[in-house]
Amino acid sequence: MNPEVKLLEPSGALLTGVDCARPDDALVALVEDLMREHAVLVIRGQGHIDDAQHLAFSRAFGPLELPASKPNAHMARVAFGLYDVSNLGPDGEIADPDSPRAKISKGNELFHADSSFNDLPSKWSILRGVVVTPEKGETELIDGRLVYDALPGALKARIAGLEVEHNYFHSRRKAGATVSDDNPLAPYMRAVHPLVRTSASGRPALFVGAHAARILGMDEAESTALIEDLLAFATQRKFVYAHKWQAGDIVIWDNRCTLHRGTEYDYRRYKRDMRRSTVNESGEERSAIPAHLSLAMLSQPQPAGRM
Ligand code: OGA
Ligand code: MN
Repeated sequence: MNPEVKLLEPSGALLTGVDCARPDDALVALVEDLMREHAVLVIRGQGHIDDAQHLAFSRAFGPLELPASKPNAHMARVAFGLYDVSNLGPDGEIADPDSPRAKISKGNELFHADSSFNDLPSKWSILRGVVVTPEKGETELIDGRLVYDALPGALKARIAGLEVEHNYFHSRRKAGATVSDDNPLAPYMRAVHPLVRTSASGRPALFVGAHAARILGMDEAESTALIEDLLAFATQRKFVYAHKWQAGDIVIWDNRCTLHRGTEYDYRRYKRDMRRSTVNESGEERSAIPAHLSLAMLSQPQPAGRM
């Protein structure tokens, strides 16, 4: 291991000279340290990694959040335990732009923290670029600690101690889907988090994102207005690191203190094969949804990936 670290602008770090196929104690400690400090870490030069090695590397940092449903045809392309966030169908060809897969890509274009609606507490997401687009399709990331530090003092005082319900149905509605609160999945798709979360580094982070549905104990109009104001503040360009993918990049983000989104690309023209693991903090490896339910129970099926 001959690690080299460069800082990214306005936040994040780039690590080269390591091999994620060999997550020995030194590499695990280095990645944990860099993640604590920077919250976003790009590891370049990992094009040799296969799905099994991606899973093993991820498990060195905690148990995985497993996909919601048992493996099915849509998941056959990637190893169980990884989310398929590509634009590809099970046959490896570009999926129909009207398919659920295409809708997932669209949903990913709002800034969010993965699984913030799950009771299963998400730690990191680890996204691997297998086939990347020659143009556009950047992943944009925001460090919520920088955002918090920049908030005006009066706003910091106003949001101190507030709690927010994160709800997957809320972000789906924002992205244009129709979903009913009577859906059997509803109870498993909401969770409450503080609006200001203390990150692994001990620094406070503003924690909002597309799943943030309502502030507890506040009337709806005021809550919606405050969430939208905070989102607008957090997503100012000066806070955004836009990652231009190279094949073989692995990007890790801390879901407890960052927001991210996928950006548009020419979906019909370019294959984009991205695979993601999500590490959780619960101490056990499981799905956030009980085995007798599946995401197919949403009005529009979400077969594999989700944000
Ligand atoms: C994700 C995600 C964005 C992208 O995998 O959770 O939001 O650029 N991806 O693919
Ligand atoms: Mn995501």
